[in-house]
Amino acid sequence: MPVPAPNSSARAVVTGGSSGIGVALATELARRGHSVILVARSTGPMEELAATLREQFGVEAEVRGVDLSDQAARDELCKELAGREISILCNNAGTATFGKVIDLDPAYERAQLELNANAVHDLTLAVLPQMVKRGAGGVLITGSAAGNMPIPNNATYAASKAFANTFSESLRGEVKPLGVHVTLLAPGPVRTELPDPEDRSTVEKVVPEFLWVNTEYTARVSIDALEKNQMRIVPGLLSKGMSLAGFYTPRRIMAPIVGQMYKKLAGE
Ligand SMILES: NC(=O)c1ccc[n+]([C@@H]2O[C@H](COP(=O)([O-])OP(=O)(O)OC[C@H]3O[C@@H](n4cnc5c(N)ncnc54)[C@H](OP(=O)(O)O)[C@@H]3O)[C@@H](O)[C@H]2O)c1
Repeated sequence: MPVPAPNSSARAVVTGGSSGIGVALATELARRGHSVILVARSTGPMEELAATLREQFGVEAEVRGVDLSDQAARDELCKELAGREISILCNNAGTATFGKVIDLDPAYERAQLELNANAVHDLTLAVLPQMVKRGAGGVLITGSAAGNMPIPNNATYAASKAFANTFSESLRGEVKPLGVHVTLLAPGPVRTELPDPEDRSTVEKVVPEFLWVNTEYTARVSIDALEKNQMRIVPGLLSKGMSLAGFYTPRRIMAPIVGQMYKKLAGE
């Protein structure tokens, strides 16, 4: 059975619904008729988006201001979602840090792991039983091409995305016969905002313009892939190249090469 058709009582949950890819995913789902629950910490941008989605697409749009790196706050959200009719879950919220782990704030690194890995696990487990019971549902997990390989100067992020990538593709094999779709979105660079011409210390310095994809395209191909129950969607040329390199290059050769690239991303 396909991802459930929209209905007035069902909700599609999008984490990271306050900016970037999450805004585009929520908009794409609403365009297809799904009512949504937006989740992130900043409620202001989500309230604005919710109002736009209601007006443009005539769907219901709810907002939950939750710090998903906080276990107690997460538990409360999981409890709510387990008791609602959730047709689609987009586990999309995530953060990244660049630089040597030893130089980074340990508390922020822990919070990053909570968000990028544990929140994905908790939210999925909260909604999976009802999806399996109905024999229908969709889970989209935003991992990353960075999760395919070891990346010095991006260690916590790369490892947390390795969890997201592997969890998604493993879970898919378990629930496919039960009618639940699970798709991994594993992008390389996605343009989430216009580049600052002054900003030469970040990813802008490393990735040429033609290799970027935008959030709208990423969301559209991701929801298409979820509807088809595709295992993995990799939008854009660079993402595809990074994926292939991650799969076929020996890790001991790959690590120092990408490590040098990510050193630049850290501004070193
Ligand atoms: N853009 C890319 O090039 C790229 C490439 C590969 C993978 N990805 C992945 O795509 C996903 C979306 O990234 P993006 O590029 O769209 O980044 P973004 O614009 O920075 O969005 C990140 C989202 O996560 C939310 N978030 C951050 N910390 C949170 C927390 N503790 N609790 C709840 N929500 C939190 C943010 O909202 P608040 O700050 O309001 O909480 C925001 O809505 C991430 O998982 C990222 O790793 C992005």
